[in-house]
Amino acid sequence: MLEQESQSVEDVKVAGSNAAAVICRGVVKDFGTGAAQARVLHGIDLEIQCGQRTFLVGPSGCGKTTLVSLIAGLLTPTSGQVCVLGEDLQGLSPRALVEFRSRYVGFVFQQFNLIPALTVVENAAVPLIVQGVPFSVALKTAGEILIRLGMGRYLSHSPQQLSGGQQQRVAIARSLVHDPRILICDEPTASLDAQSGLAVMDLLTEIATSPERAVIIVTHDNRIFSYADRTVSLLDGRIESIRLPGEQMHS
Ligand SMILES: Nc1ncnc2c1ncn2[C@@H]1O[C@H](COP(=O)(O)OP(=O)(O)O)[C@@H](O)[C@H]1O
Ligand SMILES: [Mg+2]
Repeated sequence: MLEQESQSVEDVKVAGSNAAAVICRGVVKDFGTGAAQARVLHGIDLEIQCGQRTFLVGPSGCGKTTLVSLIAGLLTPTSGQVCVLGEDLQGLSPRALVEFRSRYVGFVFQQFNLIPALTVVENAAVPLIVQGVPFSVALKTAGEILIRLGMGRYLSHSPQQLSGGQQQRVAIARSLVHDPRILICDEPTASLDAQSGLAVMDLLTEIATSPERAVIIVTHDNRIFSYADRTVSLLDGRIESIRLPGEQMHS
């Protein structure tokens, strides 16, 4: 037990580029208890490789956000196993899990979760500051990513001064700033116009072409389906199909 508690991310030997980025085995997730208990995921078996963009699609309420939250270690499964970069997340102590996430996982939330008291560039720099990177270096790195996302004019703005689409780009910059191996985006283009949506996808594409990284994108947005290397369809908490690019849906 003591050993478990003192386990830090230094002890976590993550897998290299030839291993699976994510392996889910028999993942079940229930919410609530007693009569109110509901099964949201019914035994998900899924492997996601590094170097790929995997899209997760399906109707509202089918369990997409729940599944990516389990992969990110933000939720724990009721049963089954979630391995990320070769690490069984349930085997990590709570503290090691937080460290693992802050080092290896980037997450763009459906709600952007920006901090109102911080400027745009400070918001994007948060993951680096948390890791102890010097403030000026963190701001410089965050600024460069924001510029690539077309947000260079807004670095000193407050998030409240931005449109929804602009806030989304700040959230995307924040998810990328610490160079995560696993990048999870929950509806990343939902509030973007067509041009900004494609710019975001080009950036995500560039990231995913690294053989060490995996990008997982939850989306309804058929404008971006062509960016998928693999499309996983969920229906009522089960995998309905897994398609490769030649077999894309067209609506
Ligand atoms: N924290 C929670 N407590 C209870 N039910 C939840 C919770 N989170 C999600 N759900 C339910 O789980 C189902 C799947 O939700 P979610 O994963 O958010 O779906 P999606 O992202 O595909 O729209 C929905 O019926 C939702 O109401
Ligand atoms: Mg969702």
